[in-house]
Amino acid sequence: MERARVSGSGGPGKKTRNIFPEFSIMGRGKTRSALPVRRESSVGADLRCMLSLFEWSLWYASRSSVGPPLNRMGRVIAIANQKGGVGKTTTAINLAACLAVAGSRVLLVDADPQANSTSGLGLRGQHQRTLYHALAMNEPVEKIEIPTGLDGLSLVPSERNLAGAEIELVEVDRREYRLREVLEATRNRFDFILIDCPPSLGLLTLNALTAADSVLVPIQCEYFALEGVSELWDTLIRIRRSLNPTLAVEGFLLTMFDERTNLSNQVMADLRDFLGSQVFETSIPRNVRLAEAPSHGQPIILYDPKCRGSESYVNLAKEVLANGKKSAR
Ligand SMILES: Nc1ncnc2c1ncn2[C@@H]1O[C@H](COP(=O)(O)OP(=O)(O)OP(=O)(O)O)[C@@H](O)[C@H]1O
Ligand SMILES: [Mg+2]
Repeated sequence: MERARVSGSGGPGKKTRNIFPEFSIMGRGKTRSALPVRRESSVGADLRCMLSLFEWSLWYASRSSVGPPLNRMGRVIAIANQKGGVGKTTTAINLAACLAVAGSRVLLVDADPQANSTSGLGLRGQHQRTLYHALAMNEPVEKIEIPTGLDGLSLVPSERNLAGAEIELVEVDRREYRLREVLEATRNRFDFILIDCPPSLGLLTLNALTAADSVLVPIQCEYFALEGVSELWDTLIRIRRSLNPTLAVEGFLLTMFDERTNLSNQVMADLRDFLGSQVFETSIPRNVRLAEAPSHGQPIILYDPKCRGSESYVNLAKEVLANGKKSAR
């Protein structure tokens, strides 16, 4: 089954997904869901949904004119969700590693002052400079990036001092465009640049979403999952309206899925109902090997290439590669 993209080259004659049914269901408050976002209907919420629907219909209609340029080198994907602990870093590290194993040149940018991508690759303390030096001191990425244990995968590391960049950038002109400008000179050296975002909608995340061609949103299979998604939509719409009119949705990724529980299955059904084909077909199972791998400083594909977690991230990488081929046509 084809998983169509929100933006890209699809003209009226091409096969595209229809996002409207999902939104109209949400706007009318119809539900198969047990999730609170659908039950707690209010005039304000309905109005917000309708405005969102309107914005998204404009977005949908304008895809062919404002989609990202075709065949551009270095697809920049921000991995973002303002909710904490949903699997952003796990996805950033393991998707980056699987893409590199598939032969792509990949740069992983750790844009989170928690520096979990840096430590998860076993590289904490192995560097002199961090993303802070690029954003706040204008140092070129080539001087900051470091190789990892995997051929084809490089890292722009992070450290706690990156939190200072958010404060220092407040005074800077075009502060939301800093990361975009920093990556511009480097994107032709890579096939993919993945940005691991912090769990907030602060300046670092805004920079990542402004620099990105698309956003990949990990969503944990839990009770409040959909509530977070509607907040995130509002943010993406605002970013697209102001900072990055070509931002596309790479896909929504279900993480920590446990097929044995009713809750996981219900959340999956709800998200597929709500977001349709924007949800990746691959979902990431809850898998203890995925949780262990960072403490060994390795992506899952090196730590335990045969486990279910590894298999699922390989499948995700295949979907992301297929998305790229579709948009390059
Ligand atoms: N599929 C999974 N199976 C088991 N554990 C997982 C899985 N995905 C993530 N985890 C664990 O859940 C925790 C949170 O994951 P992760 O750090 O990737 O989330 P995050 O969204 O990056 O968090 P933050 O918002 O703090 O940056 C970590 O301990 C991680 O090892
Ligand atoms: Mg993280």
